[in-house]
Amino acid sequence: MGPAMKVTIFGAGYVGLSFAACLAEAGHEVLCADADLARIEGLQRGLMPLHEPGLEALVASGIAAGTLRFTADERAACAHGDLLFIVVNTPADAQGRVDLRHVIAVAAAIGRHRDRDALVVCKSTAPVGTAAQVEAVLGGELAQRGVRHRIAVAVNPEFLREGSAVRDCRQPDRVVIGSEDPWAVDLLTRLYAPFIQDPQRQLLVMDRRSAELTKYAANAMLAARISFMNEMARVAELAGADIDAVRRGIGADRRIGPDFLQAGAGYGGSCLAKDVRALVHAADRGGHALRILAAVEATNHEQKGRLFDLMTHHFGGRIAGKTVAVWGLAFKPDTDDMRDAPSLVLLQRLWAAGARVQVYDPAAMPNARDLLGDREDLRWCATAPEALQGADALALVTEWDEFRRPDFAHIAKELRAAVIFDGRNVYDAAEVESAGIAYYGIGRGRSSLRLG
Ligand SMILES: NC(=O)c1ccc[n+]([C@@H]2O[C@H](COP(=O)([O-])OP(=O)(O)OC[C@H]3O[C@@H](n4cnc5c(N)ncnc54)[C@H](O)[C@@H]3O)[C@@H](O)[C@H]2O)c1
Repeated sequence: MGPAMKVTIFGAGYVGLSFAACLAEAGHEVLCADADLARIEGLQRGLMPLHEPGLEALVASGIAAGTLRFTADERAACAHGDLLFIVVNTPADAQGRVDLRHVIAVAAAIGRHRDRDALVVCKSTAPVGTAAQVEAVLGGELAQRGVRHRIAVAVNPEFLREGSAVRDCRQPDRVVIGSEDPWAVDLLTRLYAPFIQDPQRQLLVMDRRSAELTKYAANAMLAARISFMNEMARVAELAGADIDAVRRGIGADRRIGPDFLQAGAGYGGSCLAKDVRALVHAADRGGHALRILAAVEATNHEQKGRLFDLMTHHFGGRIAGKTVAVWGLAFKPDTDDMRDAPSLVLLQRLWAAGARVQVYDPAAMPNARDLLGDREDLRWCATAPEALQGADALALVTEWDEFRRPDFAHIAKELRAAVIFDGRNVYDAAEVESAGIAYYGIGRGRSSLRLG
């Protein structure tokens, strides 16, 4: 392990908090700042603001070792680190316009308070040109104060996945450094040294604009793979083929690879949809229509309605009065993140059609409750079996491990209509059917029926 470095992280969210805890574990002296005072006060008392496997223990040991501290004091945050990371949220609206207000607020604060040289690192996902904008804001603040500190701005996009953020931080596939300043590259290289086994392969240094675009291109490619497979799933349904077999068949090809090829109820989360929209919007403004990505988004939008369409088909359009058990609300397993979750589309469509829902998720219920509130056609359940009680059908929306091997005989007994809609293709159709339950997956031609 190299010598410890002083680091400030602005933003104690899914990325900022995971990154901060991993840097602290590696021995760096980390101060993690957030504008949300309640979040910081909670963290100081050991209360986690989010669910991420392994993170709570890592935060606790960082606090105990004294390498991880939290603050809501902007001035203290600006003073601490030799490297200052901006890891705040960058939401996009429905048109794909990215709201950079939080990024700019941090840049302005650094410009106002910093009293010595620094490296500012943009880790938030933000459009090409954002680092230059951050530099301009910083420069403006410094000029107003009449000080001439050397403050460089680099780009270092984050590729971690929610649900395995700690592992991804500790063992990144690659670290992209966007900077043409040797001092900045050297600082970041030393900071990341504990996480890098093979610098030749894992450290990618490039100009800032390319680094900014790399993040969007990566998410766009991942989203495209999913929408591609969801489209193939339609073909499989029409052709009477099984998309899961097709997935194995193509995933074994080294040029394609096995990851991100699951057909399902559509992608969600805080990143893929937002970043695809933002890229389409940015290219559009530059005068170029991104046809592939527009289709990726449109396909995903449609896919989020797929489970509901299968239900409508199964019940011959008579959804009103039905009760549906929904297993899983989070946009994926091992997170409590509800942003853009496909479950939200299913619930809204079921309610609009006059159905009731009984939901259970191992981690996301508090966040879901904040979003949805309490209503008469929604029952929050404490366990997966409770959600089945008195329900007509079961919809599996998020493939948490605890849903993978249920007791199908019990399900058959509980469900009035004995039907499962498997939005993640985790069940074996034959096993489900042998328990006397009708089965619908996504793109599993044999049992999904041939839908138009
Ligand atoms: N979540 C992911 O899986 C993921 C993966 C890669 C990249 N990213 C990108 O990383 C960035 C952060 O994402 P996230 O999911 O961690 O967001 P998040 O919403 O979980 O956390 C952002 C945090 O920043 C804080 N914040 C806002 N303004 C601030 C300010 N002026 N000073 C200090 N703190 C401030 C917020 O209070 C919040 O706690 C986004 O740009 C996102 O696109 C996210």
